[in-house]
Amino acid sequence: MDKMVKENIFDNFYKGRKVFITGHTGFKGSWLSIMLNWLGADVYGYALKPHTNPSLYELANIDQLVSSTKGDIRDYNLLLATLKEVQPEIIIHLAAQALVMESYKNPRETYEINVMGTVNLLDAARQVKSVKAVLNVTTDKCYDNKEWHWGYRENEPMGGYDPYSNSKGCSELVTSSFRNSFFNPKDYEKHCIALASARAGNVIGGGDWADDRLIPDFIRAIMRGEKLKIRSPYAIRPWQHVLEPLTGYLMLCKKLYVSGPSFAEGWNFGPDDKDAKNVEWITKRICELWADGASFEIDKSPQPHEANYLKLDCSKAKTLLDWHPSWDIETTLQMIVDWNKAYKNKNDMREVSIKQIEKYLFHNK
Ligand SMILES: NC(=O)c1ccc[n+]([C@@H]2O[C@H](COP(=O)([O-])OP(=O)(O)OC[C@H]3O[C@@H](n4cnc5c(N)ncnc54)[C@H](O)[C@@H]3O)[C@@H](O)[C@H]2O)c1
Repeated sequence: MDKMVKENIFDNFYKGRKVFITGHTGFKGSWLSIMLNWLGADVYGYALKPHTNPSLYELANIDQLVSSTKGDIRDYNLLLATLKEVQPEIIIHLAAQALVMESYKNPRETYEINVMGTVNLLDAARQVKSVKAVLNVTTDKCYDNKEWHWGYRENEPMGGYDPYSNSKGCSELVTSSFRNSFFNPKDYEKHCIALASARAGNVIGGGDWADDRLIPDFIRAIMRGEKLKIRSPYAIRPWQHVLEPLTGYLMLCKKLYVSGPSFAEGWNFGPDDKDAKNVEWITKRICELWADGASFEIDKSPQPHEANYLKLDCSKAKTLLDWHPSWDIETTLQMIVDWNKAYKNKNDMREVSIKQIEKYLFHNK
């Protein structure tokens, strides 16, 4: 991809910019690290070691692209010391216990990481003079799910049924309190920090090996030559490729940095309605795209409660950030199959990921 394309998308804003990502060793953090490095940013990361094997972080040798600190978000002193040393301009907070099923097993730890982790990060950020923009990444599950059919807007109340969703609702409330108390847009001239949060849906893409997520479970089953067992075949989810919200986060961070307080609020990043499909539809379609005898069956054993479809109203991001979903579900699934076939064929996965990033950003030009 030529230099012109890179420059057109974010107007070269990220070139040489110091960006600090928490959770850079995870699925979204790894993609974001590759993307920011590709855009010429100076990328710093703070997280635990990759918690899956394999991981995109290791396959793409992201340690070579990012100045990485392996630390716990609950370790306030280490986090503060790292931020003071790095002096970042932009912080994107992704570090979290990110799984609903795990949150049923370990609710205390989920709250400690997701709520106190956010408190630690925001409290540390206010002590570092270089910081101008902070984005807390939560989820669509942070909303009080009334199981209705229209989209949730950013000013809807927080909630969350299971500990993961609820901890993210709490993380949103923490963000809002810090914005009122320490980063108030009215006093922007004094503190110079714009703080926002981003709520995205079910994010999918190559390089995810988390437990209890449909696509990773499916890829694992395919690689082992087994039938995939699916739970909740009729559950509809707002599937979107990982590059969709990540592009939204980067558009938003640029606005926070350049225009400050007017963008310091919550933002939804979700797919178009037509791409919300049920689990069975997604699974069938991947089987067709993968071919080679990939198949599935329905797991009828009782499962813990998972919220029904929750739709985001993304009018705000579309209107004010000019962010729009770009890859439909067909393209997204094709990208996932291509990525995993390349992985199966032992290709260079950093290169494969960069090619997909280029395709995505070129499409968005
Ligand atoms: N993947 C999705 O579908 C999705 C959807 C909406 C929101 N999100 C949110 O996006 C963010 C990233 O999600 P992901 O899918 O990449 O998750 P992931 O589990 O792949 O990565 C989580 C990251 O957080 C780090 N982390 C976990 N506990 C930590 C701790 N105690 N201290 C320091 N770092 C810690 C991990 O090391 C890893 O880098 C999370 O905040 C998640 O809630 C994800």
